[in-house]
Amino acid sequence: MTPNGPKAEIHAQRRRRMLEAVGADALVFIAGPPEAVYSNDVCYRYRPDTNIRYLAGYEDPACLMFGGPDGEFTLFVEGRDPERERWTGPRLGPEGAAERYGACHAHALEDWPGVLAEALGRTAVLYYDPPLEARAAAKLRELIKANGGLELRSAAELFGEFRVVKEAEEIEVMRQATAISARAHRDLAERLRPGMAEYEIEAAIEHEFRRAGCAGPAYPTIAASGSNATILHYTRNDRTTCDGDLLLLDAGGEWGGYCADITRTIPVGASYSAGQREIYEVVLEAQKVAIEAVAPGTSYQEVNMRAVTSMVPAMIELGLLEGSTEECIESGAYTSYYMHRTGHWLGMDVHDPGSYGDNGARLLEPGMVLTVEPGIYVPEDAACPRQFRGIGVRIEDDVLVTAGGHEVLTTAAPKETTELEELRARALA
Ligand code: GLY
Ligand code: MN
Ligand code: MN
Repeated sequence: MTPNGPKAEIHAQRRRRMLEAVGADALVFIAGPPEAVYSNDVCYRYRPDTNIRYLAGYEDPACLMFGGPDGEFTLFVEGRDPERERWTGPRLGPEGAAERYGACHAHALEDWPGVLAEALGRTAVLYYDPPLEARAAAKLRELIKANGGLELRSAAELFGEFRVVKEAEEIEVMRQATAISARAHRDLAERLRPGMAEYEIEAAIEHEFRRAGCAGPAYPTIAASGSNATILHYTRNDRTTCDGDLLLLDAGGEWGGYCADITRTIPVGASYSAGQREIYEVVLEAQKVAIEAVAPGTSYQEVNMRAVTSMVPAMIELGLLEGSTEECIESGAYTSYYMHRTGHWLGMDVHDPGSYGDNGARLLEPGMVLTVEPGIYVPEDAACPRQFRGIGVRIEDDVLVTAGGHEVLTTAAPKETTELEELRARALA
């Protein structure tokens, strides 16, 4: 398998299914993001628009128009420019893109407003999302205003419903992304030494992703040691680790266009302190209980609540919370230490689109992939027993819903305390 994702026929099948879903009087328009400036005249490496990639496989800046009575699929892509191509490499141009990606029509990127304006005259329903780029957004608003009778619908919701249940080929790609990432976590657990800076840990795990053919990390790596682990989206990664710290490492690679999202919380020295172990065991038990619940017919919210109802009595026992389990859940008191849901859909985006239903009522189906990632984060100034202050623990696996229940895709990354402590002791010997 090459890291280029599913092939042309799969994209054509998706377009056929989407056409059936939206009907012949609807048009879907996607404006991919423009290149993003990193500094002055230097751009970030381009990350393809996920919906354009999902429907067409095209990976450079583009807009896409799709639907209508003939189900025609039109790409708008950058034109050929020999001078620029000397600097940034070859482009396909509209004709090349039409041929390679099977588009019925292709135009220069800047020509989309005229072509769309004409198509909107023959359309009753438009699926779209406001483009990120201000000028494109203003232009689209103008076109919509000029076609007052249009029924407007969300393309994000439409694509979310397609993408939330993965096809067999997507699952194979996700197996690769998650296996590479889980192995990288295991490798890191063997390489970690007290005195390593968080940025070295970030570099070490991202090295493994890239070495295995990942496009890069699927999201900014969180390498949080000591009390930095209590900051949920910590990405400064500039502290030096010490023996006795915990390291919360939330890192996953993007392979073939699909993301992994894994967190492990491991000792920087050879073992967990008593306080660290107590918190860790509570989170690990909650994570196992929540994973056990993952099966077709279970709701997303049920998975979340399994983790909460496992953790809250244990948090009371540890002296983190006061009152009964029911009171602490009812009042939301537990959210002082656990302030996020137990997981999210995972796929081409790390937080993949797709509805969770009202209050998380959506039922799981085979082919869905979600993370299960409870955590406890105790601020340094928390009013709780001293030994727990400044401890942050999250344990995150990627779980495929199967016909018979579930399959954890990230088992290669150890999470049992005995296995981790043996591994750490060997590594430091
Ligand atoms: N790494 C982001 C998340 O766990 O949702
Ligand atoms: Mn994560
Ligand atoms: Mn996650």
